[in-house]
Amino acid sequence: MLQPVIMAGGSGSRLWPLSRQLNPKQFLRLTSEKVSMLQQTVQRLENIEISLPLLICNEEHRFLAAEQLRQIGYKNASIILEPVGRNTAPAIALAALQLTAKGENPLMLVLAADHLISDTAAFHQSIEQALPLAESGKLVTFGIVPTKAETGYGYIEQGESLGNHGYTVARFVEKPNLETAEEYLASGKFFWNSGMFMFKAQRYLDELKAFQPDILEACTRAMDTPSHDLDFTRVNAEAFAACPDDSIDYAVMERTADAAMVSLDAGWSDIGSWSALWEVSEKDSHGNSTVGDVMTSDTTNSLIRSENRLIATVGVSDLVIVETKDALLVAHKDRVQDVKKIVERIKAEG
Ligand code: GDD
Ligand code: MG
Repeated sequence: MLQPVIMAGGSGSRLWPLSRQLNPKQFLRLTSEKVSMLQQTVQRLENIEISLPLLICNEEHRFLAAEQLRQIGYKNASIILEPVGRNTAPAIALAALQLTAKGENPLMLVLAADHLISDTAAFHQSIEQALPLAESGKLVTFGIVPTKAETGYGYIEQGESLGNHGYTVARFVEKPNLETAEEYLASGKFFWNSGMFMFKAQRYLDELKAFQPDILEACTRAMDTPSHDLDFTRVNAEAFAACPDDSIDYAVMERTADAAMVSLDAGWSDIGSWSALWEVSEKDSHGNSTVGDVMTSDTTNSLIRSENRLIATVGVSDLVIVETKDALLVAHKDRVQDVKKIVERIKAEG
């Protein structure tokens, strides 16, 4: 059976001040008033034949993760805890090692915990299409038709047809520079990498061994004698700390000769920044997306969120204003990528 593995260890720093170290993006209710991004990710898998999700996240978020799963009816969740973040290649390796420990070799559906997918049925259809490819030993990614020269994504060049809506991957390029991204967009041959994957657990470990043996070795040692308490699996902290930091995109997907792609047309969005959230949010007739106590006058195309006090705006446009108990962000909507720099400065300056 298909085994969902949900990666929930990111920091989401571009969504500061709402997203914080102790409460990052995937645990926030960003696109729904009722459920968090993580909870949406889990609920999106209901109604298809799939095993219970395996979650992998940082140790410091263990109670948040378990509580959010419990809230939506998943009482005995499986959660692997990373003592430190080493990015997605090691995180997926820990999950694959756990899943193959008893000699089994399940198909993994690797998902990010912080994506919005508005058309669940279309998502399920793409999963169906990926199944035979992954069964045959391919490392399948889900490709999105690009709409702009976004440099925060991986790009997939579509290769030959493999039948059943699948294609080989002629090239996989993680986060190209702007010039290259513009070329790719203009060529019409490239898709964005959605950051979701499907492959057999052992197949991933074999490719990791071929391209990044140090990661596999460190993760194998870290998973050697895992300890279990409550819902949690803990790995050897010292061994995992010694693991190189790398993403699956650089470590495996750019290098493997066995990548395949199915396209995904399901209203996908990586809510990577405040402007991305504004784009997918419901807006009033002036293009404003507001949450909480907000009063606008002659204000257009802005995202305004208040947690504690009234925010009033007059005669402004294209702003992002986010108010929390201890911080207030005011930014131009075109400059929200730089919020990350503020977070880095706060960290550096204490
Ligand atoms: N468990 C765990 N541990 N999860 C992690 C870690 C980690 O160390 N680092 C990141 N994650 C989780 C994040 O929470 C997110 O759900 C997912 O893994 C992807 O990580 P990001 O850090 O958000 O990656 P990205 O957005 O820069 O790039 C990836 O996604 C893009 C699409 O959104 C790549 O796969 C790109 O190629 C892709 O286009
Ligand atoms: Mg992301």
